[in-house]
Amino acid sequence: MNHSTPDDLTRLHDGFDIDDPVFTERFEEVLDHLVAKCPVAHSTVGPGYHAFNRYRDVRRAAQDWRTFSSADGWMLNPPEGNIHILPEDVDPPYHTEWRRVLNPFFTASAVTALEAAARRYAGELVDKFAARGHCEYVADFAAQLPGIILFRHILPVPVADLAVLFQDIDTYSFGPMADRTPAFGRVYAYLQQFLEDRAGQPSKGDLVDVILAGVDRDGAPCPWTDKVHVTLDVVFGGLATTTHAMSGAIFALASDPALRAALRADPSRMDTAVEETVRLYAPVVAVGRTVREAVTLGGVALNAGDRIALNYAAASRDPEVCAAPARFDVTRHEVVHTAFGVGPHRCIGEHLARLEIRVAMEEFLQRIPEFELEPGTQPQYESGQLRTMKNLRLRWAV
Ligand code: HEM
Repeated sequence: MNHSTPDDLTRLHDGFDIDDPVFTERFEEVLDHLVAKCPVAHSTVGPGYHAFNRYRDVRRAAQDWRTFSSADGWMLNPPEGNIHILPEDVDPPYHTEWRRVLNPFFTASAVTALEAAARRYAGELVDKFAARGHCEYVADFAAQLPGIILFRHILPVPVADLAVLFQDIDTYSFGPMADRTPAFGRVYAYLQQFLEDRAGQPSKGDLVDVILAGVDRDGAPCPWTDKVHVTLDVVFGGLATTTHAMSGAIFALASDPALRAALRADPSRMDTAVEETVRLYAPVVAVGRTVREAVTLGGVALNAGDRIALNYAAASRDPEVCAAPARFDVTRHEVVHTAFGVGPHRCIGEHLARLEIRVAMEEFLQRIPEFELEPGTQPQYESGQLRTMKNLRLRWAV
């Protein structure tokens, strides 16, 4: 339990670190403090970086990839031997080549075709616990649905492999720290072997074939490892992120009977509920960029080589673009946020994520219209550059 006062947060102005445990413990309070009092915080971890917290600065940097490059990676405090994933960790024109071939699998219409299946899986998961009167929502639902959809429909792996793959991805995302790197290694090895196997099979015309066909890098076919790293980005980009957002949505519903009533009264507000979910329960808290030429951003003079953090989670709570930003408000006419990023690296999976979050809410509410947090419990989180809800205990009358 942290007994520090709000004033303690001023230590973050010049002693910022995205991995500071204060983010886990006082997430919203820290974000609101930074937006209001510290538009640009300074980190002294490693070579250090400047963290930009206001919407206008974050948006400007995210759009200007020439000045603020992704090529040194999205991680601010990368571990030894860190792997660069693609297309996240490259700049145009190579980045554009990959997005050109990957985008068609993630358009709004491509994703709409998955809705019936998503609804069926979501319904089946809720049916497993509905009669029990309680669940741990993260494990029982949110950690499962994104993987089921991804691995059955978008990046189809043999069904027999799913259990082990799920287990390793779960360990990497949510398990004890010491187990995470080995679990990542197993997922890497699995996906590498999976791609090799598929390369020896006839084309199916799916995303895997497009990744295997690859694109040109500097005028020559890209290396094999880039194809593996694209596959990793799709897998790790889309699972724990959507798990957290779905859990946030159901937590918001569990905590607020008026919100449940508002959505029941007007189901057309569901789309706004999804946007409010990702705005307030942002799974991607912040990403790194490297400054390529001297520039002033947010009043701070930056030099070539400086590292910066774009605090997407804070920018989505900036009162300059969102009135009463702490409120989960399904009556907003427009929800402005940076939860899916801005500019060329904007999330490729945003339509899929929206579909999954909406389906998760609708199928749950349809079967369990009234529910609450298990008394005496609160969800637990883990925060760094990504934020995850580790558990969410719910109960309802049966
Ligand atoms: C609520 C769920 C999700 C959130 C909040 C989210 C957030 C983000 C953000 C903020 C970025 C941009 C990073 C940057 O600016 O450097 C991003 C990129 C990306 N996301 Fe998502 N994401 C979600 C779900 C998904 C899903 C479902 C997939 C795929 C199945 C996915 C795959 C990717 C990939 C491949 C990139 C890299 C795009 C690029 O560099 O061009 N994400 N995501």
